Amino acid sequence: MSLENIKRVCVVGAGVMGSGIVQVFAQAGYEVTMVDIAEEFLQKGLNNIRKNLDRAVAKGKMSKEEADAVLGRIKTTLSLTEGAKDADFVVEAVVEDMSVKKQVFSRLDEVCRPEVILASNTSTLSITELGSITKRPDKVVGMHFFNPAPVMKLVEIIAGMKTSPETLNTVKALAEKLGKTPVQVKDSPGFIVNRLLNPMLNEACFLIMEGVATPEEIDTAMKLGCNHPMGPCELMDLIGLDIVLAIMESLYRETGDPKFRPAPLLKKMVRAGLLGRKSGKGFYTYQ
Ligand code: 3HC
Repeated sequence: MSLENIKRVCVVGAGVMGSGIVQVFAQAGYEVTMVDIAEEFLQKGLNNIRKNLDRAVAKGKMSKEEADAVLGRIKTTLSLTEGAKDADFVVEAVVEDMSVKKQVFSRLDEVCRPEVILASNTSTLSITELGSITKRPDKVVGMHFFNPAPVMKLVEIIAGMKTSPETLNTVKALAEKLGKTPVQVKDSPGFIVNRLLNPMLNEACFLIMEGVATPEEIDTAMKLGCNHPMGPCELMDLIGLDIVLAIMESLYRETGDPKFRPAPLLKKMVRAGLLGRKSGKGFYTYQ
C-alpha cells in the first residue's frame, strides 16, 4: 500500500496513546475510526481529544471550525470488524500484553484487505512475533508514538525480521505527513527510547526505596541537572506506572539480564492501583 492510497485509518484502542494517535491522524486530514471494547473507553478517548482541541482553540492555535472538522473525521465503534474492514491502514494501541495483541492482529489479518499495513504502537514487544501470527508479516511494522502523541515529534518505526522495505518506506512517509520525525530501528526489546529511558525511571524507584531521595528531590535534580522537561517520577505518572512496569518486565524477560529487573516499589505501586495521572494518584496526586 502506498502513501497516496491511505485515506481511512483504523486505530484499535482508545486509551491515552490510542486517542492521541487518533487525534494526530484526524488533524492531518485522515478519516479515522477508533475501536475499543467498551463504550466507556471510547467516550473517555473522545473526551481526551475534545479537551486537547478545546485547549488549542482557547490558545488561538486552531479555529473552532478546524477543531469541529477534526472531530467530524473521527468515528467510533465497538466492532473491530466494522472499524477495520474498510481501513487502508491500521494502528493497534491496546494493552501491552502479547496474547491480547496477537488476538487483535489475528482478527485484523482476517478482516483487512491483503494489501493493508498493520502497525503496532507497542512500547517494547516483538514486531517479528506479532507479524508471525499473520499471513502478511511483510506488512506488519512498529509505529511507536510518544506520550503525549499530539505533541511529541518522534515516531520510532520498527522493522520486524520480515517487514518489507516497501512497508517501512510507506510508514516513514506517513509519519512525516503527520508532522512527525521517523527514526527506523530494528526489532529489539524496548527499541531505542524505552531501552534507554525505562531503566532510568526504574532506577528512580530504587532511589526512593533506598531512602536516598524523595520523588520531589529526584524530579528537581533531573530537571535542573539534566534539563529534562519533567523529572522521572512526573514522567512515570504521565506514562502510567503499569506501562513502565510492563516495559521493564519485557526487557528483563527477553534479555534475561538482571540489570533490567523491575524495582519492587514499582511493582507494589502498580498492584495498589497507583498508576499515575490516569488513576488520579502515582508519585503525585491529581484531581
Ligand atoms: N495531550 C496533548 N497535548 C498536551 C498534553 C497532553 N497530555 N500536555 C501538554 N500538551 C500540550 C500543551 O497544550 C502545549 O501545547 P502548545 O505548545 O500548542 O500550547 C504543549 O503541549 C506544551 O504544554 P505545556 O506548556 O502545558 O507544558 P510543558 O511545556 O511543560 O510541556 C510536555 C508538557 C510536552 C508534556 C513536556 O513536559 C514534556 O515534553 N515532557 C516529557 C514527555 C516525554 O518524555 N514523553 C515521552 C514518554 S516515553 C513514551 O511515551 C514511550 C512509551 O512507550 C512509554
